[in-house]
Amino acid sequence: MRLFLAPMEGVVDFQMRQMLTDIGGLDACVTEFLRICDQRLPRRVFIKLCPELEHHSKTQANTPVAFQLLGGNPEAMAYNAAKAASLGAHSIDLNFGCPAKTVNRNDGGAKLLQEPERVHNIVKAVRNAVPSDIDVTAKIRLGFKDRSLGLDNALAIAEGGAQQLVVHARSKVDGYRPPAYWSELRPLREQLSIPVIANGEIWSPEDLQRCAEQSGCVDFMIGRGLLARPDLALQIKNPDQHIPWQWGSILPILHSFFEKGLTQYPEKYCGNRLKQWFMYLQRSYPEAETFFDKLKRLRSRIDIENLFVQQALAHNIKLSYDNKR
Ligand SMILES: Cc1cc2nc3c(=O)[nH]c(=O)nc-3n(C[C@H](O)[C@H](O)[C@H](O)COP(=O)(O)O)c2cc1C
Repeated sequence: MRLFLAPMEGVVDFQMRQMLTDIGGLDACVTEFLRICDQRLPRRVFIKLCPELEHHSKTQANTPVAFQLLGGNPEAMAYNAAKAASLGAHSIDLNFGCPAKTVNRNDGGAKLLQEPERVHNIVKAVRNAVPSDIDVTAKIRLGFKDRSLGLDNALAIAEGGAQQLVVHARSKVDGYRPPAYWSELRPLREQLSIPVIANGEIWSPEDLQRCAEQSGCVDFMIGRGLLARPDLALQIKNPDQHIPWQWGSILPILHSFFEKGLTQYPEKYCGNRLKQWFMYLQRSYPEAETFFDKLKRLRSRIDIENLFVQQALAHNIKLSYDNKR
């Protein structure tokens, strides 16, 4: 079984990929999407989105990172895919699942799923533009308005030459409302000769088990579930050895994440990424709720640092995080 960390724009950036792949259990991850209109983007744009390009496209835990592009113009997608490959990407992922209005209005993301032929042409153009040793993969939802074109799009992608397909088991209109329609992945899995990776609404090992049974898939991509439980991939991969982490193991990771982010943002925004992560963590840890109640009002570095120290003392937790790297 392979487990992938899902791309999440504005959330799973370089630093988050680093944190989660360091924790372990993940086989690969994907950048946030780079939106392509019809321009040729310069090197700095690629490196900013994916600093791992300068490290063989791997995180420091040696986990491969695929570079994700989004757009509806085959030539522009092909050109920029070739550029990403020339900068060191080993895998180009094409995003046909984004539900955002601005993206869909500008001819990109899930909107393209209404026209499987266009999806096919984009995949084919990109496949032809990058060297054969570079994988071209795609990520879709099951459809745009409804889920009726899921198989057509999947076949269009496979016939376009993609090496792998991730399917978020919902339509654009389904948004993020549970359930995810795992059983609707089964025909895709059965009819495609490339791997089909199941995605959507996997929050626990039990969810993954049910997803496997219903979809027939053997590989999975997880997004929000890994933010809610950073050790979920370890739990899934080593059910007998891994004891699920308690808050005492999570707090030092959050502290390290906060400290690493300090150089990235102006001070008044220094807690923003941390606050965002807490939105997910509250689902799994009652302590995260108490912490977030206080954190949400804080802006300065020193106040947030003090909160970490207070919470560590209150729960008898050491804040130093040794990720062995
Ligand atoms: C905040 C947010 C940002 C996302 N950004 C991307 C993205 O950049 N590219 C992409 O292919 N999917 C993106 N997605 C979709 C996720 O990769 C994934 O398909 C979705 O969250 C369902 O999986 P999950 O239930 O495991 O979270 C995003 C989802 C969220 C919630």
